[in-house]
Order: sequence, then structure tokens, then C-alpha cells
Amino acid sequence: MTGNLVVLAYSGGLDTSVSVQWIKEKYGADVITMCLDVGQQKDLKAIEEKAKKIGAIKHYSIDAKEEFVKNYIFPAIKANGLYEGEYPLSSALSRPLIASELVEISKIENADGVAHGCTGKGNDQVRFEVTINSLSPGLKIIAPIREWDLDRPSEIAYAKKHGIPIPVDVDSPYSTDQNLWGRSIECGVLELPDHEPPSDVFEWTNTPEDAPDEPEYVSIEFENGVPISVSGKKMNGVDLLFLLNKIAGKHGIGRIDMIEDRLVGIKSREVYECPAATIILKAHKDLERMVLTKHEVYFKEIVDSKWAQLIYTGLWWDPLKNALDAFIDVTQERVIGEVRLKLFKGNVSVVGRSSPVGLYDPELATYEPHSTFDQKASEGFIKLWGLPTSVATNIIKKAKKKEE
Ligand code: ARG
Repeated sequence: MTGNLVVLAYSGGLDTSVSVQWIKEKYGADVITMCLDVGQQKDLKAIEEKAKKIGAIKHYSIDAKEEFVKNYIFPAIKANGLYEGEYPLSSALSRPLIASELVEISKIENADGVAHGCTGKGNDQVRFEVTINSLSPGLKIIAPIREWDLDRPSEIAYAKKHGIPIPVDVDSPYSTDQNLWGRSIECGVLELPDHEPPSDVFEWTNTPEDAPDEPEYVSIEFENGVPISVSGKKMNGVDLLFLLNKIAGKHGIGRIDMIEDRLVGIKSREVYECPAATIILKAHKDLERMVLTKHEVYFKEIVDSKWAQLIYTGLWWDPLKNALDAFIDVTQERVIGEVRLKLFKGNVSVVGRSSPVGLYDPELATYEPHSTFDQKASEGFIKLWGLPTSVATNIIKKAKKKEE
């Protein structure tokens, strides 16, 4: 590289800490570090001090919680965003935001390149780099951990040699990533897909057996497809997510253990705890069934699943996402109302919903005599509805008889 200034996305962990030194050594560059607060609940001040101590010439600490909620988590709620039906995309959603901040700072600082601490085996490298290439084509990208291909013991030895403080949790066999939308835990014994995750991997959720013996009821109110209040109390998105993570986590809700297909072709065993995401997505989907027509609901399932695939595979900036968002936003204009949830020992169930624009018509649905539904109309309807099926069945039967 010709230039000598690099902006590094810095978490304070071992990988990104050794990256500071490695970039200096390998590229002879000065390093500016940047850490975004996306609700990971780490001490940002301590991270800043550490960055400077290990040689960053400048550090940016950015509170991005509100933006993360408004522009990333809320669209995911509207899209019922679940990858392969289970993963609420917590890490996947944060990457395009972190990468776009990297690009911003590289412009402000007139930097020659940007860097991230991803390995070459995961999805995060893709999410970072597709964002960077889309927002700043040609900007040099350095991925020290991928380029270096270092094992853990050598990494620790390198850190010791250069006086880089080893994080206290480095003995932990797990690699984690967390933000307001959830927490992911990988490595160690979790790589054995037939072993139950030990309870020490979980930090946000109680083991269901240890959760309260009494159920708790929570209602979530939605406006235009996004949550605006909890049990009657209006609050901003950041507070709402902190609160629901706490409440649902207490009841042991949101643990996910799945076999996931990574973009790079690997099947991996992934463990997450996403308490708020789990109950919000459940409530949102239920409310959609109340307010959208059957045709909208069925078509939206296709759109939602495509949306989740785009986000998972790092294509946040693809124009297709804007097109899908436009469809989704129109449907969400009517996603207004309240959903009541019962939380108990690891489970969340919807126990009630109401909406000023609900399509549920009690006069049609009731089995009482005053129903407005015209049962006589059903007879003709069934004849025509089943006509293709009954015609086909009879013709096939006749053809088979002829063969005999
Ligand atoms: N498998 C998840 C994903 O690809 C989690 C990634 C967690 N990232 C991390 N750097 N630990 O979205």
C-alpha cells in the first residue's frame, strides 16, 4: 500500500488489538481506531483507553444505538427478518452500519485504507467488504486476521511480545458478538453439534428451569409495523429493546441452537440468545395475520425470506433490498395494534391481539345464529373451487382402467 493511514473497526478484543500492531508493522501505517456502540454493553471508555495504549493515534467512539434501531432493527421487524427461519440476523444487521461508519471516518481523516478483524471463514467479512466496496469503490481493505492466518496461541504470544494487554476473557473458549438485537456465541464445545450448549455460554437468558415459576404477561403496541410501547408505556426503541431483552431473558426466552448455512459454504452450529427479538418478531407476525389479507400474508412470506437472505449474505446495499423495503413499507401502514404475550419458562405465546384496522369480523366468524356468513353460498363455491381437482381425478382414474 502506498498510503500510511488506516481506520480500523475496533472492538477491544484480542483480534482487533493485535491488528493495530500488525497493520503498523506490515504496512508501516498509522492506525485510527473506531468503536461503535450498538448496544453491546461494553465499556466504551475503557476500549478507547486501550486503543490508545496499544498505539492507535486517534480513536472514535460513536453511539450508534438509535441509528441501529431505527434504520436496521426496525426494518428487520417489518420484514419478520429470520434467516433460515430461526436466526434474527443480529450480527448481520450491525455490519453494514459499522462498515458505513468506517467509510465515513476514512473520508473525514483522508485515510488510505480501512481494516476489520474478521476471519476468512465467516459471513462478517463479506458484509463489511460489500458495504465498503459499494460506498467507496477502490478503498483499500485490510483484513489482518484473514491475511495473517494466525492460530490462537501464536496470537497470544504476539500480543505478549508487543505489550498488548490480553483481555480477561481470553481464557473463555467462546467467541461472542452482541448488540441490541441479540448475542451470538461460537467456538469451543459448541462446535460439537450433538452436545447441548453448557449453561455458561448464556449471559442474557435464564435457563428455562430456573426462570420464574409464575408466568408474566407483556403487551407490545405496534405502529406502522414497529413497536412503540410495552404494556401501555410508550418508549423509544433503544429503551424498549433493553427492557424486553431483560424481561424475556428473565423467563429464559430467545435461546436459539441451529445448524446454519454460511455464505462461504460451511454448515455451522450456531447458538444465539435473542430475547427481545424473539418476542417482538412473534408479536409482529401475529399482528400482521390480523390486519393483512391472506394474499398479502402469503406473498409477504416470500418477500420476507428473500429480505433475510439478502441481509445475511451481505447485500444490504443491493437495489433489490430497496425494492423489497418499498413493498414491505406499504404493507406496514396497516400494522397497527397491540399484541398480548405470555412469557413462561422459555416459551412465549401470543394470548391476544387487537387492532383498529383488524380484518377479523366477528359477525362472519361466529357460530352463533346471528352470523352474517351466507352458508348457502358455500355449496356452489366448493363445486367450482374443487372443479380442477375432481375433473383430473376422474380422468386419471378412467385412463388407468383402460390400461388394465
Ligand atoms: N453466524 C452469525 C452470522 O453470520 C454470527 C456471526 C457472529 N460474528 C462474530 N464475529 N462472532 O451472522
